[in-house]
Amino acid sequence: MRRPLVIGNWKMNGSRHSSVELAKGVASRFDAIAQEVEAVVCPPDVFLADVALALGGSAVGLGAQNVSQFESGAYTGDVSASMLAELGCSYAIVGHSERRACYGETSSQVAAKFATAQRKGLAPILCVGETLADREANKTLAVIREQISAVVETVGLGALSSAIVAYEPVWAIGTGEVASPDQAQEVLAFIRTLLGEKADETRLIYGGSVSAENAAQLFEQEDIDGALVGGASLHAEQFMAICQMAEM
Ligand code: 13P
Repeated sequence: MRRPLVIGNWKMNGSRHSSVELAKGVASRFDAIAQEVEAVVCPPDVFLADVALALGGSAVGLGAQNVSQFESGAYTGDVSASMLAELGCSYAIVGHSERRACYGETSSQVAAKFATAQRKGLAPILCVGETLADREANKTLAVIREQISAVVETVGLGALSSAIVAYEPVWAIGTGEVASPDQAQEVLAFIRTLLGEKADETRLIYGGSVSAENAAQLFEQEDIDGALVGGASLHAEQFMAICQMAEM
């Protein structure tokens, strides 16, 4: 039985004040509505400590949007997995397409980040996804296979079962053009075939223009165990509505 998981990726938005207010808004609603679903928020690193405090004793979890592949040392601007864990994070997103595209993160760097995060006790949320050009060239599954294989070669198949894999088609991120439930299911079912013996235990989630309007249909799909939500996670009510749908 895989527990549904809804993660809010706040990206580089908001202020210290608005992040605390949003965290409080999520925390105050969550415990009342959701028993079976797990909710996690990923604020900007600089607000993690404030958000951890604002979440207080609620069941809402905390994650980071990125993590260094290195444990410590002369890596200006980087934030290590143990620093994130110390601030209360249980999760770290690795390989988000915005980091692959804007900062040239390669699959092998993503694999190194995955390994470091896991070694330091953070559950990695591994993002994979094809561009529109990949999809139009019929390369979707090949791209996904390459992105997953790079991680499997570094950490081994067993390590993936305790991680989260998020399928986020690049063309669906921030565009309002959500993948159809069939498109998302097809790729997530394929990802499950890549994960070996423990695939049934691994939580696979979908991200890309998820909203309170389309989440329920996505969650009906067999291999969709939750969502990685960007824009809609910046509104406590919308994020909670999505969490509630994941529970049903
Ligand atoms: P949107 O929900 O804004 O499309 O963002 C998705 C995403 O990138 C989450 O990581």
